[in-house]
Amino acid sequence: MTMQEDYKIDEKGMPMTEMLYEGKAKQVFATGNPEVIIIHYKDDASAYNGIKRAQIANKGEWNNKISSIIYERLEKEGIKTHFIRRIDDRNQLCKRVKVIPIEVIVRNRAAGSMARRLGLPEGMQPKNTIYEYCYKNDELNDPLINEHHAVALGISTYEELDEIHGITERINCLLTEMFARIGVTLVDFKIEFGRTADGTLVLSDELSPDTCRLWDADTQEKLDKDRFRRDLGRVGEAYNEILSRLSRLD
Ligand code: TMP
Repeated sequence: MTMQEDYKIDEKGMPMTEMLYEGKAKQVFATGNPEVIIIHYKDDASAYNGIKRAQIANKGEWNNKISSIIYERLEKEGIKTHFIRRIDDRNQLCKRVKVIPIEVIVRNRAAGSMARRLGLPEGMQPKNTIYEYCYKNDELNDPLINEHHAVALGISTYEELDEIHGITERINCLLTEMFARIGVTLVDFKIEFGRTADGTLVLSDELSPDTCRLWDADTQEKLDKDRFRRDLGRVGEAYNEILSRLSRLD
């Protein structure tokens, strides 16, 4: 048994090891290797910090596949990530990381909370790219912070935030170009970082229509979680459309 095969999945696709953590859309399971975990993608959808909840059939499978394709492409471009490989429809093998409790949001267009907060029309394209940080803390509703708050809270350092910013800029370039090739505008997205056992800073968590705003480049149709948040219907179709377009990338 190699290091990476030190786990078992049952016939229903559930890992048969200890569950270490359960989030809103994913579960994390141990493997025989303390430095490797399994991330299991569920069909649960939630919005507005858990106030709106539902099940979207197959969402877990679509997000696992979408995120795996994106992570594989980022790795090929030299971005260090926690991703090792996709195991099956709902599970992926990843390096265990110590999560930095910061959500990094990148905005290429005005939408969502920024459009609301600043009174900007959705879709407006600013001259510059906008980077935001949120403190990952459910009790406080993941508040918007800046780098000084992050350092004061003791959750990061100026040096680490500089490094995160550099990697984030590069990820935005790679993803914007990748989505453009499949006729999709990358409006905004959220990423997270962590450190592996040897201290390497890596991209962690997922990249999927749950964590990105993705609009069809021709029609501006929303192909992401806003279909669920705003009750626009055809949620599954949108996720499936993103997966099938990404699968055709060469
Ligand atoms: P926002 O406009 O609601 O602040 O969201 C900006 C982007 O970040 C959008 O693509 C959705 C994503 N996001 C998450 O993935 N998780 C979150 O908890 C939040 C607030 C946003």
